[in-house]
Amino acid sequence: MAKVKTTFFCQNCGAQYAKWQGQCNSCKEWNTIAEEVVQKAEKTGWKAETPTAKRVAKPQRIQEIDTTRDARLNTKNNELNRVLGGGLVPGSLTLLGGQPGIGKSTLMLQIALMLPYKTLYVSGEESAQQIKMRAERINAEAENCFILTETKTQNIFKQIEAIEPDIVIIDSIQTLHSDYIESGAGSILQIRETTTELIKFAKETATPVILIGHITKDGNIAGPKILEHMVDTVLQFEGDRNHVYRILRAHKNRFGSTNELGIYEMQGSGLREVSNPSEILISKNDEELSGTAIAATLEGMRPLMIEIQALVSTAVYGTPQRSATGYNAKRLNMILAVLEKRAGFRLGAKDVFLNITGGISVDDTAIDLAVVAAILSSNEDIAVAKDICFAAEIGLAGEIRPVTRVEQRILEAEKLGFGTIMISKYCKIPKNNYGINIVKVAKMNDVVEWLF
Ligand code: TYD
Ligand code: MG
Repeated sequence: MAKVKTTFFCQNCGAQYAKWQGQCNSCKEWNTIAEEVVQKAEKTGWKAETPTAKRVAKPQRIQEIDTTRDARLNTKNNELNRVLGGGLVPGSLTLLGGQPGIGKSTLMLQIALMLPYKTLYVSGEESAQQIKMRAERINAEAENCFILTETKTQNIFKQIEAIEPDIVIIDSIQTLHSDYIESGAGSILQIRETTTELIKFAKETATPVILIGHITKDGNIAGPKILEHMVDTVLQFEGDRNHVYRILRAHKNRFGSTNELGIYEMQGSGLREVSNPSEILISKNDEELSGTAIAATLEGMRPLMIEIQALVSTAVYGTPQRSATGYNAKRLNMILAVLEKRAGFRLGAKDVFLNITGGISVDDTAIDLAVVAAILSSNEDIAVAKDICFAAEIGLAGEIRPVTRVEQRILEAEKLGFGTIMISKYCKIPKNNYGINIVKVAKMNDVVEWLF
């Protein structure tokens, strides 16, 4: 028997090692390195035996490349279309990631059921009966949706050749395995191999493929980082599992912008598109509470609206307490000092508690102004109107400083249905008229005056 060749791979980032070690040198995670069997891949995946694979590509003049066959496929789901940049591009690979139970399978099945094209939904996670039960809940009628419960890519390709679908959905990439690789499903090598086979299939037949992907506990897509490089589009489905709203965003999009977001509501009968997001805000709007303010922040490249809560009360003990959850405590002290010195608020003898709701922690300085608004609102016991949001940094002189990518924040606030956004006077914005009222402030006093 031939000797089995094995190599060690970090299951987090995909780095390769000759022998086992406790910590990965490249991503610094502990205990992520595992042994995987590597076999020489004599042939790979999609129609590897047929002569098409041997076809040699020739250079083409760019004017001569035909783009007419690349008209986008309408997914009949406006939110998804927008996030994709106008629909699915033929031959593209889209990866949809998200927490378990967030609704990835539901969203994809719903799309498969609504599409007027022939779709193949391949599931390695659920049985055909379970999928049928889910489809009955969603209550959509489909004539052209095929379900296949299979995890071996070679068999999947055989079925694809038989029914020639227009769109292929794979739930999920971590359950697939290819015969050409020996390690188990979900391992780095298998993910890399099966994705390569699917890319080859997608590009050769111009069929769009959507992959569902699991994510790790810190929110990255499970598998090698290279997976995100290999696919054309990476979508993330987010939201609190206990809440009904879900947000779909593009992290990477070769065919469109990554600034768009889609909003859905999880209902008993599947996901409903929320085309007017302000309805989310209005639903929570019945009571105006003092001490809360909304900040338009960016998490990495993505805009995000967060709620800041502050509680200012007279100190019970001699030394007032200052506590911040999700926000830098030193920065809170600095802001309190600025408020004391530059705006004349006597906060020195008061306890101040600050909390960013949802348990997230933010280090974007653009939330400073919302922190100020929340503190002042709690101190004065006057609520900040619910449809205002804030995006500016506070300087030591009490000046309101501009922040990066302000237009993206404005557009996000507009999209989410806010009526007013307060930014620094010194921000440069390319347009004058947005669908949202823009208030520009320069000094702390302007803020106080405008708010109360
Ligand atoms: P699912 O799509 O299985 O999540 P994922 O594939 O991301 O792991 O979603 C499962 C959740 O959605 C489950 O908790 C039940 C809920 N759900 C509804 O509320 N309504 C529905 O119509 C369906 C199909 C699911
Ligand atoms: Mg699922």
